[in-house]
Amino acid sequence: MVKYATDPVTMGPLNQLKAWIYGEDNLSLFGMAKGIEFWEFLNINPKYQKSFNEAMACDSKMINLALRSCGLVFEGLESIVDVGGGIGTTAKIISEAFPKLKCIVFDLPQVVENLLATNNLSFVGGDMFKSIPKAHAVLLKVHVYI
Ligand SMILES: C[S@@+](CC[C@H](N)C(=O)[O-])C[C@H]1O[C@@H](n2cnc3c(N)ncnc32)[C@H](O)[C@@H]1O
Repeated sequence: MVKYATDPVTMGPLNQLKAWIYGEDNLSLFGMAKGIEFWEFLNINPKYQKSFNEAMACDSKMINLALRSCGLVFEGLESIVDVGGGIGTTAKIISEAFPKLKCIVFDLPQVVENLLATNNLSFVGGDMFKSIPKAHAVLLKVHVYI
């Protein structure tokens, strides 16, 4: 398991924060420091990809708490697409809470491959900068990082 908060690959780029802030290229901090963008790095390093997916999934379990007080947000919707939805932790919780709601998890192909669909939960791989599946609502749940 990779410990993101202490791993030199993931934390090392912070040493170049100043150069990144004052630099003029369009790369992310990780991209500038490592010469490869983060998502591409994950794609070719399965150990990091697996740990990253698990970390995101762990954080997403908190959606259970939000659903208790914000469930109304989803009522009346027929379909929703979770863009960048990772391995589907958030969408799974929503799909179970609202069995009539069709939930689509959209993420990079390598993230959603081999994930099991259910009655109202499906997985679609692709690039959100090109197109996303049609749905009545879009969920975009992100984490802040550089
Ligand atoms: C910070 S994670 C958020 C995951 C999830 N939404 C959550 O809250 O736990 C960002 C997600 O976006 C996905 N992603 C990155 N670039 C993407 C792209 N071009 N198209 C689709 N998904 C992408 C990553 O694979 C990752 O699962």
